[in-house]
Amino acid sequence: NQIKIFCPATVANVSCGFDALGFALEAVGDVMTFTKTETKAIRITKINVDSLPKETDKNCASAVAKIMLEDAKANFGVDIEIHKGYKSGSGLGSSASSSAGAAFAINYFLNNYFTEQQCLKYAMYGEQVACGSPIADNVSACLLGGFVLIRSYEPLDVRQLPVPNDLMVSVIHPQIEIKTQDARDILPKDIPITNAITQWANVGGLISGLYENDYDLIGKSLVDVVAEPYRKTLIPNFDTVKEHALNAGALGVGISGSGPSIFALSKGLTTAKAVAEAMTNVYKTTDIEYKTYVSKI
Ligand code: HSE
Repeated sequence: NQIKIFCPATVANVSCGFDALGFALEAVGDVMTFTKTETKAIRITKINVDSLPKETDKNCASAVAKIMLEDAKANFGVDIEIHKGYKSGSGLGSSASSSAGAAFAINYFLNNYFTEQQCLKYAMYGEQVACGSPIADNVSACLLGGFVLIRSYEPLDVRQLPVPNDLMVSVIHPQIEIKTQDARDILPKDIPITNAITQWANVGGLISGLYENDYDLIGKSLVDVVAEPYRKTLIPNFDTVKEHALNAGALGVGISGSGPSIFALSKGLTTAKAVAEAMTNVYKTTDIEYKTYVSKI
């Protein structure tokens, strides 16, 4: 009657794959506890932060739980405890962790009444509640784990990609908040064909690199001419962090989701730690607070 789950943080876009690529961090995430109740109520009974809503329809976890239980005509309710392991508004898929966690736990209580694809759609509904757009990249990476490609939104077609054994991520989260919707609104609605060519060629390169364990190709393909040029203006010291991370041995560097977190991919833990330190050193010289993570993918 109770399930406790780890809901990983996620890096969406992965530079070239705006709204189409994402991966999960093994070492960073939330812990959620779901308890089945006899009343039909869906309640957030505990969250370890004040900044998130507790009302059933406003919190993405309870909103997802509610619609799934209604659609399955379930005769029970659920109490939800959320222990956030990282901040919301970080660009690390905080709302996706809650939404995907709820979709997973409720389907577990329903004895897998819904298919994986239906669960993904419910989790996307949670993203709609949290940030106004039903984006699939963070929730898919959170729910399925590893690296994912959203090949199509309509119909939804999500593919898991292989992850080379030594692929590590370093993340720095400067503690300023960027709302996903704001970071989407600053993007131009149309992109020049030359940029489109650069972008899709790099998506191909990145995916090929993942399949072939080709770390250099993975690094070379972390190019984003669609969102990064606009979004980096919202992130203090982005170019310096990128330069220092690359000098410390990172394969490539980009904005995590809609920011402000910056991620770098590396081969091996030693390099990933050195890269995290190089990124940290940039923010140490400022009065911006930050948090750094190193994780396997
Ligand atoms: N792909 C999304 C964006 C990530 O960059 O806006 C947030 O879900």
